[in-house]
Amino acid sequence: MNYKNNGFFHSLNRRSFLKNSALSSFAFSAAFIMPNWPALAQAANLHNNSLKIPPLYRGEKQGDITIFNLEMRNGNTEFYKGINSPTSGINGSYLGPTLRMNNGDRVRLNVKNLIGETTTLHWHGLHVPAKYDGGPHQPIKHGEVWSPEFTIIQKAASFWYHPHLMGKTAEHVWQGLAGMIIVDDEESLALSLPKEYGVDDIPLVLQDRRFLKDGSITYSPTRHDIMVGMVGDVPLANGTVTPYFVAKKQLLRLRLLNGANASIYDLSFSDNRSFVQIATDGSMLEEPFETNSILLSPGERAEIIVDVSGDKNFMLQSRPYVASGMSSGMMGGGMMRGESSSDGQLFNFLEIRPDSYLKKSPPLPKKLTTINWLDEKNADKNRSFLMSMPMGPMMMLGLGKTHTINGKEMKMSRIDEIIKLNDIEIWELGNDSMFAHPFHVHDVQFQILSRNGKKPHAGERGLKDVVLVNPGEIVRIIAKFETYADDKYPYMYHCHILEHEDAGMMGQFLVVA
Ligand code: C2O
Ligand code: CU
Ligand code: CU
Repeated sequence: MNYKNNGFFHSLNRRSFLKNSALSSFAFSAAFIMPNWPALAQAANLHNNSLKIPPLYRGEKQGDITIFNLEMRNGNTEFYKGINSPTSGINGSYLGPTLRMNNGDRVRLNVKNLIGETTTLHWHGLHVPAKYDGGPHQPIKHGEVWSPEFTIIQKAASFWYHPHLMGKTAEHVWQGLAGMIIVDDEESLALSLPKEYGVDDIPLVLQDRRFLKDGSITYSPTRHDIMVGMVGDVPLANGTVTPYFVAKKQLLRLRLLNGANASIYDLSFSDNRSFVQIATDGSMLEEPFETNSILLSPGERAEIIVDVSGDKNFMLQSRPYVASGMSSGMMGGGMMRGESSSDGQLFNFLEIRPDSYLKKSPPLPKKLTTINWLDEKNADKNRSFLMSMPMGPMMMLGLGKTHTINGKEMKMSRIDEIIKLNDIEIWELGNDSMFAHPFHVHDVQFQILSRNGKKPHAGERGLKDVVLVNPGEIVRIIAKFETYADDKYPYMYHCHILEHEDAGMMGQFLVVA
């Protein structure tokens, strides 16, 4: 790899580094607008920004209920020193606090919208009543406060929140509206895992952004971006460009969230060291899974534990991802790759610097949780969902349907599926387009039964709410739709590439008693 860990770059490897880093394009625009750009360029190169850790917010207890006050607002963010970009955030100028809750807690979230236009706030991955889901049917006008209240019924894992207004999700998230939610339960609190927030238990909201000539990240997709998904060329971790983190303990737990609009991240460490995955989207894995790379598509989360021992700095990076099932001859491997993932670019997300003295961490537990596996024999119903991107002259003209599920584009007034409360259902997910689509289901945590007939690999054997469906693949998932029924308010299912979702690759289901 090009990454050198001595903190300085020899002129020799600097050139090859430039090729791969965000800097190449950054430098290009920097020449036009930025003062003292060599210094800035160096900054971009050297990972000299301390990683921002979103503030931990446990809410305010009022009797039996915990209150969270969230304010969605506009501000300015200095991604690069001295250059401000208009952004949005929650209780801040970019991203939001990490909300921390316990399974069984009764919570109320007062969400105030001050962004100057209507938006929503959705609790991604949480099992909540449909009318409090924060989807397209719960708009919050500018100046208004929306106060959903529910009980946390969840296994311990990392979830997140983000806007979900029809047609506007991509823009609102891109501008900075997103944050993490950590749910603890009795079982997870008793495990000997790294759990000191900001010290050895770190949330990492991974994103990429495209900086315009004026130094801003203002959302301005081309027609092509809307078609395939908006991809940036600068990686950000918790809104920090070129960040580093000083690890003070031997084991470091990273709560990884792919918070990108469209990029699929194939994550690994620059020295290819192995690490242990302990959680998926909605639960712990039953036992730790050792690996050296992990694929996260938009919306997906994973918790990993990495042993930082050694005197070398190393980088968390994302390699270009090529969706399996794509014939490389189809449009020329490079082209396809660029369109389906991180623009064929190596992203350096975070430099990890082990402190010279590392506190010892206790060994990892062998058993993390028990998952109540659903048996396909008990399924009450099967449904299938086919994601498509119809091609042809109509599409080129921007006419006709471009992003569909079962041939339909999302329509707010149409309910696509009706599910009986307490039913167990198997959903068969297909994709006949040339792009990989991460399929997300609201309300439930599902289990993956199979990918193209094969059992999912160990890193996917936990509870999930997003699953990547590659071109030509069939993914079968199973879930129980329980607790909440409502014959008026629907839940959503959709592709989590936000531009695809906004363009119509979404549908609605009711759960009825
Ligand atoms: Cu993360 Cu329907 O959303
Ligand atoms: Cu969701
Ligand atoms: Cu998609």
